[in-house]
Formats: sequence, structure tokens, C-alpha cells
Amino acid sequence: MTAVTSITLTQPDDWHLHVRDGDVLKYVLPHTAKQFARAIIMPNLRPPVTTVALANAYRGRIEAQLKASGITGFTPLMTLYLTDNTPAEEVRKVREAGVAGFKLYPAGATTNSDAGVTNIKHCYATLEAMQKEGVPLLMHGEVTHAEIDVFDREAVFIDTILEPLRRDFPELKIVFEHITTRQAAHYVRDAHTNNKNTLAATITPQHLLMNRNAIFAGGIRPHNYCLPVLKREEHRLALVDAATSGNPRFFLGTDSAPHAKGLKENSCGCAGCYTAFNALGLYAEVFEAANQLNRFEAFASFYGPDFYLMPRNTKTITLHKVAQKVPEELPLAETVVVPLRAGETIAWSLAE
Ligand code: NCD
Ligand code: ZN
Repeated sequence: MTAVTSITLTQPDDWHLHVRDGDVLKYVLPHTAKQFARAIIMPNLRPPVTTVALANAYRGRIEAQLKASGITGFTPLMTLYLTDNTPAEEVRKVREAGVAGFKLYPAGATTNSDAGVTNIKHCYATLEAMQKEGVPLLMHGEVTHAEIDVFDREAVFIDTILEPLRRDFPELKIVFEHITTRQAAHYVRDAHTNNKNTLAATITPQHLLMNRNAIFAGGIRPHNYCLPVLKREEHRLALVDAATSGNPRFFLGTDSAPHAKGLKENSCGCAGCYTAFNALGLYAEVFEAANQLNRFEAFASFYGPDFYLMPRNTKTITLHKVAQKVPEELPLAETVVVPLRAGETIAWSLAE
């Protein structure tokens, strides 16, 4: 058998992305727009994007920067940050404005999540409206109680939040974002749903490529620290199985999350890996190592739009098996960001 040296696929979308705001947009948008046609834009700004009016304004700033950068053919898909006080009325506005869904951050779970939901019961009227209108709920699936071990937070979330929520709202469209454990992969794989496109999960490149040893390899590695935190090898293997299984419930979401170098290399470093630089190359490594390159296109380009009931893209892109060097750092407005794999190589690069 001859080794595959290039892959051409329908242009992918990124179903979970942080691009931040202001001066940073100019530096991160080109990386994503080079590879992806659309991306779900996370609303965890400071202050968070909690209303359709704020989402429209944020979309406007992203579009203005795309235009200023001469980028065409990239569409930001906006989301709203769910709070204890989001009125059910906002759900109808979301539908009308073409906002893609609501993001649930348990309060305190991750970067800029202090305005998040303190008790999901506070959101029941809004969730009821979302179920009725077919508006997806994107969940950061971790409990945040201090007494729960940080490596168990996702598994505990499944039992104490997700499963009861799905029982109360069986038709609510849910995306379990950036899953990191065998429990989550198996839960999503095995869950019974009445309809198609009710439950799905996104998986990041870092959780497919690394286990938790990568955070401590020869010393503390802040650039491999994200939330939910990397887990044991057995969990990584379960995620690779899920991503490469051809199951439409699993699709691509990078969770690329730029932070200034100084805020990562810090006595209290921020969570988030910057993968947008060559995310597709990272994912291609995963599918190649699993001998499933033939399933890469569906994971990257089909199952996401199918779940969100959006058309698949029609353009194609090509990746070559040509190693790409990852810079030690990349400019980020007044500062720099250290990308994942900085100073090393990624086995696949996008054809220019
Ligand atoms: C994200 C960020 O920096 O905004 N960080 C991360 O580690 N993934 C927030 C998030 O998605 O949890
Ligand atoms: Zn995220």
C-alpha cells in the first residue's frame, strides 16, 4: 500500500472557536479563515455576549476586520452566553437573527465564565423555549464544585447535569463541547434519542493528540493547559475511537483559545491552547495515525453542518503530507501568542 501524500476534502467548519475581540481579531481570524468556511464563535468576552443585540454588534466587528484584512468566504456563526437571567423571549430573537445557539458555562468553569449559570434550574423556561424553537444548547460540560477532583468534573457533569437535563428536555438539541473522557465519548455514542440531530459532541485536536502527561513533560507546560484539562491515555484513545468511528454525533471543534504568552507563562496561567495556526494539520495526524484518513472529511466537513441543519460547504481544500514548522510565537496585537507545537512541526500542511 502506498502512503497517502495528499487529501482533498470539502471545506471544513470549526464548530467551537474563540477569536476574542478588538485588536486581537486581526491576528487570529486569518488563521481560521484560511482553513474553515464557518466557525461557531464563542461568546465568553468580557463582558459576555448575552443578548442578540450584543451578538450582532460582535458579528459586525468580526466582519469589519475580515473586510479590512481582505478575507472573503468566511462566515462567523454567533452564539449567546446563557445566564441565570436570560429571558425566554431572547430565544425567539435568536432564531430571527440567525444566531446559532446558546452556550452554557457553569459559573466559574473556565476563562471568563463568572457570569455563567449557577443552577441550571434557573434556565428552565429559556431551555423550554429553545427546545420548542430548535435552538441548540452548547455546553461546557464540567461541574465546578471545589470538592470535585478536576479530572472528574466532566464525568460528574454527565451524571448530575446532562442526564437529568436530557430527561427533562428530550428534544432539546445539545452539543457536548470539547469532550475529554471515555465517559463522555461513550455517553454520546450510546445515548438514546427520539430524533436525529439531538445530541452531538465536538472534539479538539489537543485532546486527540495528547494525554495529561503533556502538561508535565520535564516541567510544567502551560501551553498544553486548557479546560477541560487533558486526561489519561485511556481517555485519549476513547476520543480517537469516537472521532474516527464515522459516527455523525462527533465532529470538529478546535476550541482554539488564544491568550497572550505572559498570561499563560504566569503564576496563575490561563487555560486555552492556540491551535488555529494549523488545526487541520493536527487533526489529519490523528486520522492518519488511526488509519482512518478516509473518515476525516465527514468528521471535519459533514457531520457539523448536518447537526446544525446548515448546508455543507461546496468548495474543497487540499492538505499535503509536508511537514510545517510551527513558529515559536505569533503576533497577537501588542503581544504574542505561543501556538500548540511551537518550535516543532505538524506533519500536514494546507496547500496554498
Ligand atoms: C477557553 C478560553 O480561553 O476562552 N479556554 C479553554 O481552556 N478551552 C474557554 C473554554 O472554552 O473553556
Ligand atoms: Zn472553548
